[in-house]
Amino acid sequence: MKILITEDYEQMSRHAARILASQLTLKPDSVLGLATGGTVTGMYQRLIALHREDGLDFSQAQAFNLDEYLPIAPEDPQSYHTFMQTHLFSQVNFSAGSTHIPNGLAADAEAECRRYEASIEAAGGIDIQVLGIGRNGHIGFNEPDITFEAGTHQVTLDEQTLLDNARFFPSVAAVPKRAISMGIKTIMHARRILLLASGLEKSDAVHRMINGKITPALPASILQLHPDVILVIDRDAAALLPEGLRTSGSVAKEAQHV
Ligand code: F6R
Repeated sequence: MKILITEDYEQMSRHAARILASQLTLKPDSVLGLATGGTVTGMYQRLIALHREDGLDFSQAQAFNLDEYLPIAPEDPQSYHTFMQTHLFSQVNFSAGSTHIPNGLAADAEAECRRYEASIEAAGGIDIQVLGIGRNGHIGFNEPDITFEAGTHQVTLDEQTLLDNARFFPSVAAVPKRAISMGIKTIMHARRILLLASGLEKSDAVHRMINGKITPALPASILQLHPDVILVIDRDAAALLPEGLRTSGSVAKEAQHV
């Protein structure tokens, strides 16, 4: 695991955007795994700026998002389809048909999970997967559990996740209770993983992800087993890490125990 600790959210967003931009520059037809949520919006703004100002090109790339609520219409203002259109897709030059998000209105959600997983495989797998992390240690919508779910699957959202995501909805009751999410195997098959975290409220999950035991009770802990993970986290999110890992700097540090 490489750990890059930044001063703040802005610097985290800039570094993360640079990593994605270099991926696209070196491999223009990259398959990007993307996330939604408050953590990644700054990175998307930076990518849009790199597209407008430096010609960063998305035209040969493909994108697969981690998850979508169930049920939700794509045009619903709170859907992840709308989120991605607003925060990235409508402002850069992905080619038509190259961005993918699970269908939150699928009549047969199980079949939709199988279709989504197969379409990632058909694209050749994910080159770089962007992840945020939940306060409960979830990645995608893989919630704390007693086992790791493998492929794209239906999930029931954790109470904590409903409360955390209520800020995007009129009320907690309005947050859909279910979702379709890439599974742990889908995420672990990505060739590289870029995880972002910002804020003190993520510090406990970040600490347990890096230093705790590998357990489905803290789904992000499985990333200790992935050979190519970059964590870009701000100082607050790093607050509980051991002293040696905590100083901010532009050189990525290797977690000592991995
Ligand atoms: C979003 C996703 C989630 C978020 C996580 C953090 O597609 O899969 O795992 O990355 O809940 O959300 P924020 O960034 O809003 O704190």
